[in-house]
Amino acid sequence: MSATAPVLQSAINVQVIPTGAAVGADIVGVDLSQPVSDEAIRIIHDAWMQHLVLRFRGQTLTKDHLLEFSRRFGDLDKAPINTLGKPWIDGYPDITVMSNIKVDGAPIGGLGYGEAVWHTDMSYQEVTPTGALLYGIEVTKEGGETGFLSMYQVYDTLPADLKAAVEGKMIKHDASYNSAGDLRKGFEPVTDPSKAPGAIHPAVIRHPVTGRKALFLGRRPNGYIMGMPLAESEALLDRLWAHSTQPHLAWYQVWKVGDLLMWDNRCAMHRRNAFDPNERRYMLRTQIRGSRPSA
Ligand code: OGA
Ligand code: MN
Repeated sequence: MSATAPVLQSAINVQVIPTGAAVGADIVGVDLSQPVSDEAIRIIHDAWMQHLVLRFRGQTLTKDHLLEFSRRFGDLDKAPINTLGKPWIDGYPDITVMSNIKVDGAPIGGLGYGEAVWHTDMSYQEVTPTGALLYGIEVTKEGGETGFLSMYQVYDTLPADLKAAVEGKMIKHDASYNSAGDLRKGFEPVTDPSKAPGAIHPAVIRHPVTGRKALFLGRRPNGYIMGMPLAESEALLDRLWAHSTQPHLAWYQVWKVGDLLMWDNRCAMHRRNAFDPNERRYMLRTQIRGSRPSA
């Protein structure tokens, strides 16, 4: 595509190539640094609802391209509170940086190089994001893969007794720690999950677009099922998480430079493998503002 004469890309070239797993499809034939037609956006949105995670390979995007494409799917949410307590990039409060890189001893992004546990982004808020877009600028040779689960599939395959046990339950989603286990700025360490700060959402939600039911767990650490003695809540959460995170249910993204991933945060959970701290990984993320999860 010519850099000098932007072409409004029509839907004709857009191809959806599913991974064949419960989540994931590659979208080919679109250059996201160029204008994208409404018709192409509709095809991409439909594929997103069907496959939960989309991948666009070989993209060359500026921060503004990423913001512009992200905004085609809704207003953006501000980046979550990070360990600095201010945006990672001055002038870009809607962009979250995910990186292990340090400059003068200070991190320039979140999540470091360790494992990031299975989670839904920002589920500790009352209004949770519709989805997120993550763009790989520097990626690792090994490790740092991002795993995804379909929480529709997880719900649909729950054993009958677990499905009954979770029906009508509300879960409190701890806001104190991020997925790397770091305490967010302004929060106190949690000693009793039932007392932790964070939003309360139905354990089973209905997706506002597809109408399908999905298990909505957030994060395991400091999760709490409302109204239960803590030990019972822990036991039920442990069973739900063990079912959800069976390795054969997950699909993993192995990053290449220029990959843009977008996931539906209402019905997909994700995690990240640890990687060698001597490698460099640098990613930009946006998050699309959503609605309050409802049953
Ligand atoms: C995120 C996230 C994982 C990764 O951006 O929300 O969890 O692989 N990232 O960087
Ligand atoms: Mn995340």
